[in-house]
Amino acid sequence: MCGIVGYIGTNAAAPVILEGLSKLEYRGYDSAGMAVYDGNQIQIKKSVGRLKVLEELTHGGATMPGVAGIGHTRWATHGAPSDVNAHPHYNAQETIAVVHNGIIENYLPLKDKLISKGYTFTSDTDTEVLAHLIDYYYKRTCKDGTEGNPLVAITKVMHRVQGSYALGILFADHPDQIFAVRKDSPLIVGQNEEGCFIASDVPALLKYTRTVYFIENQEVVRLRADHMHFYTVDEEEITKEPVTIEWDTDAAEKGGYEHFMLKEMYEQPKTVTDTLLPRLKNGDIVIEELCMTQEEICAIQKIFIVACGSAYHAGMTGKYVIEGIARIPVEVDLASEFRYRNPILEKGTMVIVISQSGETADTLAALREAQQRGHKVLGIVNVVGSSIAREADNVMYTWAGPEIAVATTKAYSAQLIALYLLAMKFGKVRGTIEQTQFQEMVEDLRRLPGQIEMLLANKNRIQRFANRYVGAKDVFFIGRGIDHAISMEGSLKLKEISYIHSEAYAAGELKHGTISLIETGTLVAAVATQNMLFQKILSNMIEVKARGAFVLAVTTQGNTEIEKAADYVIYIPDTNPYFTNSLAIIPLQLFGYYVAVGKGCDVDKPRNLAKSVTVE
Ligand code: F6R
Repeated sequence: MCGIVGYIGTNAAAPVILEGLSKLEYRGYDSAGMAVYDGNQIQIKKSVGRLKVLEELTHGGATMPGVAGIGHTRWATHGAPSDVNAHPHYNAQETIAVVHNGIIENYLPLKDKLISKGYTFTSDTDTEVLAHLIDYYYKRTCKDGTEGNPLVAITKVMHRVQGSYALGILFADHPDQIFAVRKDSPLIVGQNEEGCFIASDVPALLKYTRTVYFIENQEVVRLRADHMHFYTVDEEEITKEPVTIEWDTDAAEKGGYEHFMLKEMYEQPKTVTDTLLPRLKNGDIVIEELCMTQEEICAIQKIFIVACGSAYHAGMTGKYVIEGIARIPVEVDLASEFRYRNPILEKGTMVIVISQSGETADTLAALREAQQRGHKVLGIVNVVGSSIAREADNVMYTWAGPEIAVATTKAYSAQLIALYLLAMKFGKVRGTIEQTQFQEMVEDLRRLPGQIEMLLANKNRIQRFANRYVGAKDVFFIGRGIDHAISMEGSLKLKEISYIHSEAYAAGELKHGTISLIETGTLVAAVATQNMLFQKILSNMIEVKARGAFVLAVTTQGNTEIEKAADYVIYIPDTNPYFTNSLAIIPLQLFGYYVAVGKGCDVDKPRNLAKSVTVE
């Protein structure tokens, strides 16, 4: 949550900062601001509202001349979205400016201490404490009117504060440098012939460079126009290895689509292919990153899958698939629950965490909790070099590329593939699936990208259907077994971007309470892809219809009974029953998307949300 950028070089800083912030707006978008050194002083402009307000305020950066600056796009934690709470924050003399992503947990005692020393505060943020604390230590390094030492001041502050932070810092006394530091919030830096850059995430730098350095916890970077120096929290200089980012520059652009979400939905055939094909070798599944011997795979007694939001929903599908194929018991836990409920992790338990961003605070904490209890953790992660990717013992990447829309689509689809591959690998090694069955499943997997493409081609029909529901008050999604897992994701897609209340229920649960909510015309989306359960879900469809519901069925071809019971039918192509979620999710994503578009919602940036939830 929150995105920071910084630039120092030979070009005007403000336009570079605005460009970088535009690629990080998915991290938070309730206010934005930047600080640029104009040759005499630090100028700050900030405003509540989207980045475009800041762009207008500064005429695209033209009113903020200077070649060194920092910027911020905010998702409010401490203090409501407002002009004063927007970043950057500075000290009383306006000679030190700070942008911050994270939370300073001990900001209140620090604030009291600073107030007792005569400091005054203008905002409600924890970040303002940092600006004043840096000022306090900086002034202590100024001897007899000399300039102070920023590095010493910054490291002193790092020793004092608790919590998470990625910071960009600008000193008026040292306008030829900017500083960046991190602890538990993501931070990268990069360089090209025209300067050096700071950013919270790769998309902000793609236009300028693909060679980046991932900053580790408690490291400091001093950036000048033509070089960077890295330090530990004890001011010792260190060397770091650059990493080349493979993503192409178009990856973070809309490329002619109306929204990133639509573009990312259309990228799903490729995402599935990229996650799948490198792991299919000579008729087998090879997951080198798993780093497990056959004996270790056979010794797994239980699997915990831990994640948040859509990644948790992918985990729910994973439970059905792994239990069904590999016959290993799977428990799926919300990361925010797992970390505080003292889970029982016995010998032989494998822990898998799933995360697109690799930065979700609860998932990261769950990973650490499992490791502290002596368990190795496999991360299924999308963002290369993210915190979870670096801290997990082994990482299976979902090769979805940058996902910009706040509502996940392509990364979720890639997560499903990773889970299918694990289930099949485990099943084969443990002897719970026959070779012929395994080969048929591999062929079904290979067909998925083409089948997803077919479903996407049906978008106009779904759009027409979705247009009828822009005024809906409540929508229910029902399914049984694996179809319940997909109902959860379908429901989340709709509600998070359209703000229409929606719930997913295991269809058999309806009678235990929820059915009282059904009124004439209420839309119930029934996912019915499992042969074995057709009769059961059919009964539930008939029950809600009898109470006035309008029933949409997402089902496989040739289900005449389901067709008769439903008011509207969307078909998915034939595949192995374990893989139907990869297909059923496509019309549900399109439905949520077109309802939100029809309502005029800001699809890529739904209210109150941010893409990486780096706070608890
Ligand atoms: C919903 C969505 C969120 C994320 C959740 C976990 O569309 O995107 O529910 O799935 O915040 O995020 P990651 O996967 O980054 O850990």
